[in-house]
Amino acid sequence: MSGIVYLVGAGPGDPELLTLQAVRILERAEVVLHDRLVHPDVLGWVPKAALVTNVGKAPGGIGWSQAAIHRALIDYAQQGKTVVRLQGGDPFVFARGSEEVLALTAAGVSVTVVPGISSALAAPALAGIPVTSRGLSAAVHIAEVHDPARMEWDLLASTAATLVLLMGMAHLKTISAALIAHGKPAKTPAAVITWASYPEQTAVWGTLAELPALATGHRLAAPGVVVIGPVAKRLPILEVPRPRVSDAHEASST
Ligand SMILES: C[S@@+](CC[C@H](N)C(=O)[O-])C[C@H]1O[C@@H](n2cnc3c(N)ncnc32)[C@H](O)[C@@H]1O
Repeated sequence: MSGIVYLVGAGPGDPELLTLQAVRILERAEVVLHDRLVHPDVLGWVPKAALVTNVGKAPGGIGWSQAAIHRALIDYAQQGKTVVRLQGGDPFVFARGSEEVLALTAAGVSVTVVPGISSALAAPALAGIPVTSRGLSAAVHIAEVHDPARMEWDLLASTAATLVLLMGMAHLKTISAALIAHGKPAKTPAAVITWASYPEQTAVWGTLAELPALATGHRLAAPGVVVIGPVAKRLPILEVPRPRVSDAHEASST
């Protein structure tokens, strides 16, 4: 009897931003293989008896190979287990979800996907930045910048769409210089949001030209999302405490 693999998005970090479906599946998991950027409290929903393994890559790329992850997912599923492959954000946004679906289905293993809130949208929103806004931006271009040499800078510089850039914290100088060199105005508003939804979330605002200095001045560290475009200015959102499911649980049990 073959088990099933659930490809689950864990959201940007804060466990309160998990979907209800993700929680219900985690509660039934027998095996969980998770990414590095999954908040430890998210694993609090997993039964104590489950086998939980971090298969994420540390900076520098050391960790499980993708082939080893495929093999483990297939092996556990073929043992009849309920397996969760837990990925930060959404499993189909700059993650290896599609490759895992193909490997699993090729091996005859059932797989289903539970979308998560991607940091590409959550980080700007949590910092009070609307990625689209009537009259300012009618489109969003989400890109990853882990290899700046492979970017289409002319396209990114000429589009009126809001740019949301992931995996770019090590390349802010290049991002700023390349976009300006390809014609994006140096005064275009820009923001960087790091550790979105974590207690240490930090957001800074400035211009495209100021991007590298902003990050060094505030000692920003990955993970971070860069937003560039007229919308990259902060809306006046009040910092009020958010209602938390965990608080409601505590209140009802006292
Ligand atoms: C390999 S990609 C994974 C993206 C993920 N699948 C998603 O949908 O959010 C990792 C990048 O996501 C971004 N990221 C993930 N979590 C973040 C967070 N809590 N705050 C800011 N950026 C985050 C960073 O740009 C990081 O380098």
